[in-house]
Amino acid sequence: MIEVKELYKAYGDKIAINGLSFTVSDEIYGLLGPNGSGKTTLMRILAGITKPTRGKVLVEGIDVAENPLKVKEIVGYIPETPVLYESLTPGELFDFVGKIRKIPGEELEERVNRLVKAFGIENYMDQFIGTLSFGTKQKVSVISALLHNPRVLLLDESMNGLDAKSARIFRELLFEFKKEGKSIIFSTHILPLAEMICDRIGVIYRGKLVAEGSVEELKERAHEESLEEVFLKLTESKEEVFEIIQALKL
Ligand SMILES: Nc1ncnc2c1ncn2[C@@H]1O[C@H](COP(=O)(O)OP(=O)(O)OP(=O)(O)O)[C@@H](O)[C@H]1O
Ligand SMILES: [Mg+2]
Repeated sequence: MIEVKELYKAYGDKIAINGLSFTVSDEIYGLLGPNGSGKTTLMRILAGITKPTRGKVLVEGIDVAENPLKVKEIVGYIPETPVLYESLTPGELFDFVGKIRKIPGEELEERVNRLVKAFGIENYMDQFIGTLSFGTKQKVSVISALLHNPRVLLLDESMNGLDAKSARIFRELLFEFKKEGKSIIFSTHILPLAEMICDRIGVIYRGKLVAEGSVEELKERAHEESLEEVFLKLTESKEEVFEIIQALKL
């Protein structure tokens, strides 16, 4: 379970998170919001990387500010841009992650083999990460975040760059994780994907939660037919988009 209570984050004068409160439990929670709305900032606070200005975040009942190390043990965070050691091979990276996470040897080997096979990167295990394609790096990042079997997953646009087959496998993995009782926050700009996998969706705009519910509930409340229309309405972009499209017409 993830509990966010009255959360604020300012960078100087800039308010990135402006009074966010919501709860996620044993579900796939989609976080939607325009560029710059605060999604990554929120993920980084939840992962214990960025400190909030005010407010509280509890992950499985543990206060992230009070015990960031404990939280890091139970959280798997996949950042929007893979942060990897370019001069290691995936095999070396997974060994390294296994050591710092204190994963027993056999268990690590079994998990690495399973995930490497699932994402089809067997042939890249001995190649420097710096020389891998973007999507392959993303797969390495996904695998390294899953090795310690985290109870909570924070996925910041983690399907970016994955080919259709890997995206499908990742989606199925997420459904399995949900069945196991994991809590998952998933941010994306791909609305059909959010519609397909998320139990509930929170729309964040200018650091505030402007709507929350299942896709059906959101459509009903906004009197709109598609999630895209709901999103544009909630983020006050609908008329603006129309005007811009008109202006672009030759
Ligand atoms: N380290 C930082 N220093 C200063 N401002 C920051 C920093 N990180 C984020 N911000 C600002 O906070 C706001 C929220 O940024 P954030 O990266 O959380 O947005 P986002 O919703 O993840 O956007 P995107 O969809 O583009 O990934 C933006 O105005 C951004 O410029
Ligand atoms: Mg972001």
